[in-house]
Amino acid sequence: MKVAVVGATGMVGEVMLQVLAERDFPISELLLVASERSVGKTLEYKGEKHTVIGLADAVAAQPDIAIFSAGGDTSLEWAPKFAEVGTTVIDNSSAWRMDPTKKLVVPEINASELTAEDKIIANPNCSTIQLVMVLDPLHKKYGMKRVVVSTYQSVSGTGLKAVQQMENEAAGIEGDMAYPYPINRNALPHCDVFLENGYTKEEMKLAREPQKILDDRTFSVTATAVRIPTAGGHSESVNIEFLNDFELAEVRQLLSETPGVVVQDNTDTNTYPMPMFAHGKDDVFVGRIRRDETQPNTLNMWIVADNLRKGAATNAVQIAEYLVENNLVSNTSEAVS
Ligand SMILES: NC(=O)c1ccc[n+]([C@@H]2O[C@H](COP(=O)([O-])OP(=O)(O)OC[C@H]3O[C@@H](n4cnc5c(N)ncnc54)[C@H](OP(=O)(O)O)[C@@H]3O)[C@@H](O)[C@H]2O)c1
Repeated sequence: MKVAVVGATGMVGEVMLQVLAERDFPISELLLVASERSVGKTLEYKGEKHTVIGLADAVAAQPDIAIFSAGGDTSLEWAPKFAEVGTTVIDNSSAWRMDPTKKLVVPEINASELTAEDKIIANPNCSTIQLVMVLDPLHKKYGMKRVVVSTYQSVSGTGLKAVQQMENEAAGIEGDMAYPYPINRNALPHCDVFLENGYTKEEMKLAREPQKILDDRTFSVTATAVRIPTAGGHSESVNIEFLNDFELAEVRQLLSETPGVVVQDNTDTNTYPMPMFAHGKDDVFVGRIRRDETQPNTLNMWIVADNLRKGAATNAVQIAEYLVENNLVSNTSEAVS
């Protein structure tokens, strides 16, 4: 595959290169793409230096796959230009997620929807991915009615500028601010921009994307998204009301049998998921599984994952792998032979 990584110099882009290398994705030619500010810089992939190029040159090279992590505006403008030359775009921004003509994919759940005609494929929001990885098997078994989620999201979810802000504040250095307030020793109930309904854009992503991925509009999700001063890994407190009752032991068993989900749940040994342990891993970790004693058929739990890996890069690379394995990109047969 001729592969373009758009946004290669960013936080997600860096992890994307790591994940592509770790999984030994079949790359015949790699194009590293970023803004005009970075053109000419060099980055390493598998020990080899690559020069960063601009978007127009990348389109002209007609890659088979372009994985975008360069913000919504870049995706809106450039993903169609890649699609026009036959490239399959996998996009990490929110630009195409709710477009009814585009698929929103978590491979463990709905990769089978993908066809060779899908030229722009959306990767869900990082907080959504870890949530639906756990909701999907439970919904199939007990039928979800309503989900209430509160997130505790790391600064790496905002990008390099936010990580720098937190590091500057911790070191007592004045610098650029990614947030309207200090983030170190603080918690901001404010992820992404506020909308007219009083929710943030991040909260509405969590409310809308799960129905599309699970292909079911019969359940509802409401969210509060909070930014906390952790470097990597998002956490979520999740309350789920089901149509049918459950046994806690069965819930744990079901989740422990779900590919990509790891149960860490033993209060006797203080075992529960934490961002510092999820950091650098591809799995979604779930614990603190307990019955909500205030109403029937309702469960509380705590879900943690690395937002840059399963929340972004790993999920995108899994989509790319699915496309290649199922001959859904233009020159798959050449790459396999
Ligand atoms: N961080 C996460 O946890 C996460 C998770 C899921 C999805 N995402 C999404 O992934 C995208 C990138 O996030 P990030 O955290 O990696 O941000 P970041 O660290 O700020 O990196 C942004 C990247 O986009 C490139 N870029 C910006 N404007 C561009 C333009 N006009 N043309 C070409 N490239 C441009 C930047 O290139 P320069 O270095 O040249 O400026 C850089 O490579 C965003 O859409 C974000 O919503 C992030």
